[in-house]
Amino acid sequence: MKKKIAILPGDGIGKEVTSWGQKILEAVGEVFDHEFSFETALLGHSAIEVTGNPLPEETLVTCREADAVLLGAIGHPMYDNNPTLKVRPEQGLLRLRKELGLYANLRPIKIFDELLDASSLKPEVLKGSDILFFRELTGGIYFGTPSQRTENGEQAVSSMVYSKMEVHRIAKMAFEAAQTRRKILHSIDKANVLEVSRLWREVIQEMEKDYPDVKVTHMFVDNAAMQLIRDPKQFDVVVTGNMFGDILTDEASQIAGSLGMLASASVGDVVGMYEPVHGSAPDIAGQGIANPTATILSAALMLDIAFGMKQESQSIIDAVDSVLKEGWRTKDIANSSTLSDRVLGTDEVGNKILEKIMAKVPSA
Ligand code: IPM
Ligand code: MG
Repeated sequence: MKKKIAILPGDGIGKEVTSWGQKILEAVGEVFDHEFSFETALLGHSAIEVTGNPLPEETLVTCREADAVLLGAIGHPMYDNNPTLKVRPEQGLLRLRKELGLYANLRPIKIFDELLDASSLKPEVLKGSDILFFRELTGGIYFGTPSQRTENGEQAVSSMVYSKMEVHRIAKMAFEAAQTRRKILHSIDKANVLEVSRLWREVIQEMEKDYPDVKVTHMFVDNAAMQLIRDPKQFDVVVTGNMFGDILTDEASQIAGSLGMLASASVGDVVGMYEPVHGSAPDIAGQGIANPTATILSAALMLDIAFGMKQESQSIIDAVDSVLKEGWRTKDIANSSTLSDRVLGTDEVGNKILEKIMAKVPSA
C-alpha cells in the first residue's frame, strides 16, 4: 500500500520522538512492502518562531492532503508563566483538532507486564488493567463561548457547552468499541452539579436501549478519579468530555507505568491524528533521554486504525514488548531493580525496537 503521512514534530521532545516514529514506520514499510512517504510541517512554538502563527496554513494543507498525521508534542515554558501572551502554542493544536474534525480521542491504557513495578501503584492493583478512553476532543470547555475577560478585567468566563449531537457521536463510538471488548461502558460526568453534564447523561441513557449487551455505569468525575487508582480493573471502555478526559487520562497514565508509554489516536470524519499523550517536556528536551515508546505505539495505532494494517501494527507492539522483556528501559520507566547498564537513551531504545522489527519475517 502507498500512504502519505504528515509529521508534526512540534516542540521540546516532540522532535526527538517523532523522528523515531518515522524511522519505525519506514522499517515497517520495508518489512511489509508498503510505500510510506513523509512530509514534515510546523506546529506550536516552533511555528510561532518562524511564522508568528502556531498553525500555519501550510501545515493545515499538509495534514489535509495526508492519509494520517503523526504529532509529537507542543508547548514551551515561556508561555506557561505569562498568561498575558496572546499567541500560544496550544491554540495551534486546538485549532488543528477543530479544523480536522477530530472529535474522538482514543487513549488506550494497558500495562505491559514488565512494567508492573514501574508504576507508583501496586502491581497487584494494576495487573490485567485494560481501559480504552474516549475523550471528546472538539467541544466542551475547551471551545465553548463565551470565553473571555470582562471589560474591567476583574472576571473571566470559560463555558462548558455540549450539544446532543456532539455527545451522541462520541458515545456511539464508545458503545461500539465496548461491544467488541468486555461490554462495560463508564460514562463520566458531573451531573450532580452541571447542566451540561445532565444533558450528557440524558443522551447516553437514551442510547442504552440500542446496546442491550453493554452494561453502562454513570459515574461522577470526582469518584471516577478515585476509582481509577483504587481498582482500575473495573473499567473497560470510558467515555467522557474534553476536560474530564484530559485530566483522567494523565492520571490513568500511572496505570500504564508512565506517561512515556501512552499512545493516542484522534479521529473524526476525515484524516486521523496519532500522538503520544505526554507533552513537550521542556525539562528534558534535547538531552536524548525522552522515551520514544509512546510515539512509536502511536504509529502502531495509525497502522491499525487509519490503514487497517493489523499485522504491521502488532509487529511494533511485539517489538516494544520484547525490548521491555530484555530489560531495556528509558529513565522514566526504570526503577531501583533496573540494572544500571540497561538504562538507555532515546536513540538506543529506538534502535532496539527498530532491530526487532527488521528481524521479523512476516508470517503471511
Ligand atoms: C493533551 C494536552 C493538550 C490538551 C494541551 C497541550 C492543549 O494536555 O493532549 O492532553 O489539554 O488537550
Ligand atoms: Mg493532557
